[in-house]
Order: sequence, then C-alpha cells, then structure tokens
Amino acid sequence: MDKADLIWMNGELVPWDEAKVHVLSHGLHYGTGVFEGIRCYETERGPAIFRLDEHLKRLERSGQLYHLTLPYSAEEIRVATHELIRRNGLRSCYIRPLAFRGYGEMGLYADSAPIEMVIAVWPWGSYLGEEGKREGIRATVSPWRRISPDSLIPASKASGQYLNSILAKNASVEAGYDEAILLDQRGMVCEGTGENIFIVRDGDIVTPPHTASILDGVSRKSVIQIARDLGFVVVERDVARAELYLAEEVFLTGTAAELVPVREIDHAVLGRPGEITRVIQAKFEDALHGRAEEYLEWLDPVEQAAPVDEGSTVSS
Ligand SMILES: Cc1ncc(COP(=O)(O)O)c(C=O)c1O
Repeated sequence: MDKADLIWMNGELVPWDEAKVHVLSHGLHYGTGVFEGIRCYETERGPAIFRLDEHLKRLERSGQLYHLTLPYSAEEIRVATHELIRRNGLRSCYIRPLAFRGYGEMGLYADSAPIEMVIAVWPWGSYLGEEGKREGIRATVSPWRRISPDSLIPASKASGQYLNSILAKNASVEAGYDEAILLDQRGMVCEGTGENIFIVRDGDIVTPPHTASILDGVSRKSVIQIARDLGFVVVERDVARAELYLAEEVFLTGTAAELVPVREIDHAVLGRPGEITRVIQAKFEDALHGRAEEYLEWLDPVEQAAPVDEGSTVSS
C-alpha cells in the first residue's frame, strides 16, 4: 500500500510507521472493531470528502450494535479526518476510521479493555481497477452464504464479520473471477464482498432490500437517488439467483470500488457495460468529483491550510 506520513491515533498524529498496537489487543483476537471506508476526491473547489456524515453515522451505529461506544463524537472524528488529510498533504485518498477494543482484558466479556480509535488516510485507486470500471468485471456466485442476521448483524460494518467476505473473495479469485456475489441465508441475492448489487430487468433497476442481509451502503443510497432523479424506476426487492443470469445489466456499488459494471456472472455473459449502467455511472462519478451541482451537498470540502506568504516575516 501507499504510505502517507501520519496516522491519527487516539487523538494524536503519529508517524505512519509508529502507529502500533499491543499484540494482546482484544480486537486482534476476537474481531471486536468497527470501521468505515470513505473517500476524499479532488474537486474544482479542492479536496472534498464524499458523504462523510453518513459514514460517521454508520460507524456510530455499527459500534452501538456491538457494545462498542466510540470514544470520540462524530464531530471530533470529522475534524480529525480533515486535519489528517491536510497534514498529509493529500488531494484525494481513501479514509479508514477504525474503533476497536484494545489491550487491557482478555476473554469475551472484556468491558474494561479500552476502546481505541485510529484514522488512516492513503492514496488508493479503485478497488476493482480502472479497467473493471470501464469494461466490467467477471463475478461468480459464491458457495459461501452472507452472514445471517440470526447470528451476526449484517447492517454493522464490524471487523470480525469480514472473515465471511474474505472466504468468498478468496474462493472467487482462486476460481479465476474478480469478485464474488453472496446469497443470503434464504438463497436470495445479497451483495458483493465489499459492494452492493443492482440489476436491470425490463429497463427497471432492482436491488436487494435491507431484509436480504445487506450492508446499508452509502454508495447504494446515493445511486438509488441518482437513478430516481434521472427518471429510472428503482425497486428494492428480493432478487433470485437466476435473475443475475437473465439481467440485461448488472453493476456493483461501494466506496472502495465505486460503480463497477459486471460483464460476466458464472456461465452467463452479460457483455459490455449497458446504457443504463453507463448513464448512472457517469452521473455518480460527477457527484463524487463535485461536477454535479445537484449533489454538491454530499461533499464535505477539506479546508486547506492558508498559503504561506513568502514576503511575510515570521515572528516567534
Ligand atoms: C460488505 C459490504 N457491502 C457493501 C459495501 C458498500 O458500502 P458503501 O457504499 O457504504 O461503501 C461495503 C463497503 O463498505 C461492504 O463492505
């Protein structure tokens, strides 16, 4: 990965290579952490963070669901994120806040172990590649089912839950695909390993509902609004596996991947990205990069340090 200079750790800015934790940190052993994936984009008005408030709300909710009360308020995390991007001199980056149970007590009920919080930022290109965004990716329906809501909490973005995504992702890559699509515990289509899924059927856009064990994606929410604003019908309903093969178009959405067309699923060749995918992808890209007036409110501009005035004298 591309390093930045500084990481925010429990309220301090520390050099990247010195941001370390104790090996007996609870989260390392049991997956007791919650995190976010957020992006900051270069725009005409300077660097801006896409839907930061939405992401921070989800982080707080993810924590509440797993008895992890964040040690900082959303506003404190927002301010820290802005400062971190500025101090690292980044114009665009991926942003990873993580709150986890730290070192202090072992065992499963470890209420006295502190909850620690870090924020890292670094340059990171689109997760499934620029070519994938342009030409579409190849996906396979995973033999692994998405975590079910009667044993974990799919709506929470919790660290330990990602073992499920990792099993599915590894199996798909080993089978020669770019990404896995998981079914929920009922056998209905759920999502990708780090993306929500949309299909086009008879010109309408269909996406699995919250009851299909999805993560409530910020990109999903944004794309639903964009599609409706463009005049498309968007339906949130269960999607049967075979509908993936019968769909006119399929695409995935996520912060890391952005909007990625799917050109092949298992034996079904869907072909080059379709018209509806293209139109929504273009508008979504405009929204991310601050080129769509109607979605400017989704961007949180990172205030830049005042430029150094070469002529001024520095007083001590
Ligand atoms: C399992 C899972 N589903 C969906 C998403 C997409 O969510 P978002 O658009 O908020 O990044 C992500 C990424 O955070 C994810 O990890």
